[in-house]
Amino acid sequence: MMLKIDLKGKRAFIAGIGDDQGFGWAIAKALAEAGAEIIIGTWTPLMKIFTTSLANGKFDESRRLSDGSLMQISKIYPLDAAFDSPQQVPEEIRENKRYKEYGGYTIAEVAQSIAADFGSIDIFIHSLANAPEVRKPLLDTSREGYLSALSSSSYSFISLLAHLGPHMSKGGNALSLTYMASERVIPGYGGGMSSAKAALESDTRTLAWEAGRRWGVRVNAISAGALRSRAARAIGFIDAMIAYSASNAPLQKELDASEVGNTAAFLCSDLASGITGTLVYVDNGIHAMGVAVDSPALKQCEEPCCT
Ligand SMILES: NC(=O)c1ccc[n+]([C@@H]2O[C@H](COP(=O)([O-])OP(=O)(O)OC[C@H]3O[C@@H](n4cnc5c(N)ncnc54)[C@H](O)[C@@H]3O)[C@@H](O)[C@H]2O)c1
Repeated sequence: MMLKIDLKGKRAFIAGIGDDQGFGWAIAKALAEAGAEIIIGTWTPLMKIFTTSLANGKFDESRRLSDGSLMQISKIYPLDAAFDSPQQVPEEIRENKRYKEYGGYTIAEVAQSIAADFGSIDIFIHSLANAPEVRKPLLDTSREGYLSALSSSSYSFISLLAHLGPHMSKGGNALSLTYMASERVIPGYGGGMSSAKAALESDTRTLAWEAGRRWGVRVNAISAGALRSRAARAIGFIDAMIAYSASNAPLQKELDASEVGNTAAFLCSDLASGITGTLVYVDNGIHAMGVAVDSPALKQCEEPCCT
């Protein structure tokens, strides 16, 4: 029998989809391709545009699966992962026009709704990050900006797992998305985002231990290469990072989001039943490099190993 990724009968909740350009969407598609049922958490302010675009068929082409059918989404929940419970939502957010028409978007409420609507889930994907001061160097980042980056991008994973864990099946999976800036300097990835990714990676190990013992759930992270998503475009230098990778990574090609999606599907399948607490790089190998081979300094070197 051929070895294949089979997620039939599994239900996945993917937090952090606001369009069809990012890793969350690509992961949803790969999981759907493997047979999983898809439910989504969309940042509350993007809820209207995302659901309208979906209903209008804007994503139909990218919803298409290999058998010709369109990826089905059983339910879309508004989610603001910066808040655990309604009491934490400040008045100005609650009253904001992009939040006002929605309720139940805090982590505890979304987890409760998922449990009420579906009973349980098997897969939880965290594909979200936010740092209000991402364009500022760490040295110029305010305390508020730094803590906000950690709150939205790292604690959100802990809190979502804590609330969803009791409703996850034994052998279930939690997966987050991280970036090499946690362990190597990427100038420009500021505002505490590098710190937030370092926390997320460290928490992957501790949560693997805790969630493994408490619910039999595996916890892993994918360290992804540069992708021109909406979030990455907001940081500002994504095209330069893609070009840098093409010049310097072992594999000279642009990373396709589906490569991350396929790895996520593998990690969430029983084929990976022995893998937890791990960071998997899906980045064309750029993390392995110690020098930038296109550096002018290396031009003086005539050894073939430099090219
Ligand atoms: N794009 C890259 O180059 C790259 C590289 C490595 C890792 N990543 C990581 O991949 C993940 C997905 O990002 P992406 O680049 O695919 O961009 P994306 O814009 O598709 O996804 C980020 C999502 O996070 C959502 N979000 C932000 N704050 C939120 C909050 N408080 N509550 C709920 N949702 C919130 C946004 O609305 C957006 O939908 C992130 O963790 C990101 O750091 C991205």
